[in-house]
Amino acid sequence: MNKSFLLSLFNRVHRDVRDYMGSLSLYRFNNFKIKTNACDLADLPDVIRLYQKYFDGGHEASIEKYQRLFKNTFYVIKNREGEMMGYCLYTIHFSFQNRNIIQYATIYSFAVDDMYQGSGIGATLLSESITELRENNLNSIRLFVDILNSPAVHLYNKFNFNIQGIIDNRCGQGKKCYIMELLL
Ligand SMILES: CC(C)(COP(=O)(O)OP(=O)(O)OC[C@H]1O[C@@H](n2cnc3c(N)ncnc32)[C@H](O)[C@@H]1OP(=O)(O)O)[C@@H](O)C(=O)NCCC(=O)NCCS
Repeated sequence: MNKSFLLSLFNRVHRDVRDYMGSLSLYRFNNFKIKTNACDLADLPDVIRLYQKYFDGGHEASIEKYQRLFKNTFYVIKNREGEMMGYCLYTIHFSFQNRNIIQYATIYSFAVDDMYQGSGIGATLLSESITELRENNLNSIRLFVDILNSPAVHLYNKFNFNIQGIIDNRCGQGKKCYIMELLL
């Protein structure tokens, strides 16, 4: 076994343990959803279709895994006919800050179908999810967004997310993205 194999195995196990701990911490999650729903298994094909439309792809397996682990923080919104208009998926993790344990959410993926963009669907997904995460005593929400993605940056600014820094290659090779955070 070479060093890079061991390192990637360690990273994978570490990521899985963090994900499972985050998932377990939601065992008493209180539901405040009104216009949104928790993503069901049956919603996944539509979510993945939207994901592939807007992002480079490659994380479909993670989205499926997170549907199992973070169903309650995987928000979907549909029209009256039951067609998928958009989704916002948060993962939940812990970190240490000033000797305190912080429970935080990270926006893993967020998209609204272009047929419905600009009509407040993204804002509804954010406002319901932020309210619910706050009511469930999470400490903060973090996200990474391409600095050139004006509609998304505009929306996050509207919801009082603050820019914490800029990072390279996180939102795609050669791209710069903002690290943003909202304290709840
Ligand atoms: C970002 C996204 C989810 C927003 O969804 P949405 O339903 O269109 O959002 P809303 O209609 O609630 O609000 C959009 C806001 O962006 C504004 N906006 C739209 N295009 C814009 C642009 N080019 N520059 C600046 N602001 C813009 C709208 O005016 C609106 O703001 P307002 O309410 O102050 O007028 C959607 O554009 C999307 O799916 N994009 C592709 C995937 C993506 O980039 N996801 C985010 C990854 S971090």
